[in-house]
Amino acid sequence: FNGGTWNGQACECPPDYGGDKCQDEPAVCQNGGSWDGIKCVCTSLYEGSKCETVVSSIDIEPENVSAQMELTVKVTNQKFSQELLNRSSSEFQKFNETFTKQMDIIYSGIPEYETVNITKLTPGSVVVEHDVILKAKFIPDYKEFINKIAKKVEEKIKNATQEQILNNDTCTTLLCFNMTATKVQNISVTYDPEEECRKKAGKDFAEHFFVEYKDERPKCITRCMPGFKASLNCNFGTCRLERSGPRCYCLTTDTEWYSGETCEFSTKKSLVYGLLGAVGAVVLVGLVILLVFVLRSKREVKRQKSKVNQLYQWHEEDGGPAPGTFQNAGFNISEGIRNSQWTQNISKANKQTNKAQNKIVESNPTISISTININGLNTSVKRVDF
Ligand SMILES: *[C@@H]1O[C@H](CO)[C@@H](O)[C@H](O)[C@H]1NC(C)=O
Ligand SMILES: *[C@@H]1O[C@H](CO)[C@@H](O)[C@H](O)[C@H]1NC(C)=O
Ligand SMILES: *[C@@H]1O[C@H](CO)[C@@H](O)[C@H](O)[C@H]1NC(C)=O
Ligand SMILES: *[C@@H]1O[C@H](CO)[C@@H](O)[C@H](O)[C@H]1NC(C)=O
Ligand SMILES: *[C@@H]1O[C@H](CO)[C@@H](O)[C@H](O)[C@H]1NC(C)=O
Ligand SMILES: *[C@@H]1O[C@H](CO)[C@@H](O)[C@H](O)[C@H]1NC(C)=O
Repeated sequence: FNGGTWNGQACECPPDYGGDKCQDEPAVCQNGGSWDGIKCVCTSLYEGSKCETVVSSIDIEPENVSAQMELTVKVTNQKFSQELLNRSSSEFQKFNETFTKQMDIIYSGIPEYETVNITKLTPGSVVVEHDVILKAKFIPDYKEFINKIAKKVEEKIKNATQEQILNNDTCTTLLCFNMTATKVQNISVTYDPEEECRKKAGKDFAEHFFVEYKDERPKCITRCMPGFKASLNCNFGTCRLERSGPRCYCLTTDTEWYSGETCEFSTKKSLVYGLLGAVGAVVLVGLVILLVFVLRSKREVKRQKSKVNQLYQWHEEDGGPAPGTFQNAGFNISEGIRNSQWTQNISKANKQTNKAQNKIVESNPTISISTININGLNTSVKRVDF
């Protein structure tokens, strides 16, 4: 099949055709999928044998989670100056450098420690409000993990500033601190699964993918994904995501049809068939009645027509009267004509014709042909005037 050739032992199939008789046509992989010779290999956003459907969930396992802790420490061995308020000034740069170096030493035992960022400097000697930036590999219970690290950070900074007091203000390190002023204000985990979800969905479908938490884990899903609060219930139908949004394709079972936006209406097939049957029966009866009427009126027309024809025939058989002659072929009215009015009229006419025939002398009869209408039937009648 499909242009394959027999080489004496087996079928040699054209590219992408398969089967021992080349009967398997290549699947046309859609949406950027590629044919690997056996099946379509779809891109991450599609599935199905031809990559025809959009997946209903995307894995979002963020690589990293970052968190920032708001801290305040009081540096005792530095004098505050107005220049420190200018972040571009050399004073600030120098202070920043020393401070960062000191913090790197303090937090050296914490691998998740990334850096510090000074947010505000105020006098006294120098009160440093800063963020400690933490970065951790994503694990399912990342929140708990970050909290653990934050505890470690707090311990470290408290221990470091306590040492200063214990050292009795003889500052041997880069910076010395007043422990009583050390405060840990806030920890915020900066991690946005929504953003990752939208990014992975691509711009065509971004608006239909969203994050719902299940078992405290972010899931990037569409409404076609079953088992979530936002799931679209298609009532036994199939949910498919299209560019316009999720859509239900309804099911038809042996006994029922489902319809509606979420296939919420079910119609019993037997009911529909019953209704159709009833309507059909009514239509059939109507047709039969109509047919009877048509046949009857046709027969009536035919009867009238045959009457006229017979009359006409009577006139034509003799070729019509030639000028100056008159013949009466007599009335040979067939048995079919039972209309008494007609019979009467004709016998009357017959009598009159006979009378006229008797009276004919040497006259010049004129013949005129006129069309008359009998019961809707046009027929021409010859009239002879003496
Ligand atoms: C901040 O410091 C820079 C560099 O010394 C200087 O050019 C700038 O004028 C200063 N800005 C203010 C507002 O003092
Ligand atoms: C402070 O110093 C660190 C390291 O020297 C640097 O990465 C950071 O950009 C500096 N911050 C500011 C506000 O200058
Ligand atoms: C550091 O803090 C400044 C001032 O609050 C802020 O503008 C900047 O974005 C922060 N940098 C980082 C890396 O967090
Ligand atoms: C505090 O610092 C000292 C000296 O660096 C160290 O021996 C001690 O284990 C630290 N304590 C805590 C709780 O980190
Ligand atoms: C440390 O700070 C507290 C309150 O902020 C203050 O009373 C104390 O004098 C300070 N100690 C030193 C050594 O600066
Ligand atoms: C912690 O920081 C977050 C974000 O910066 C803020 O929304 C929240 O109110 C802060 N909480 C406290 C107790 O300062």
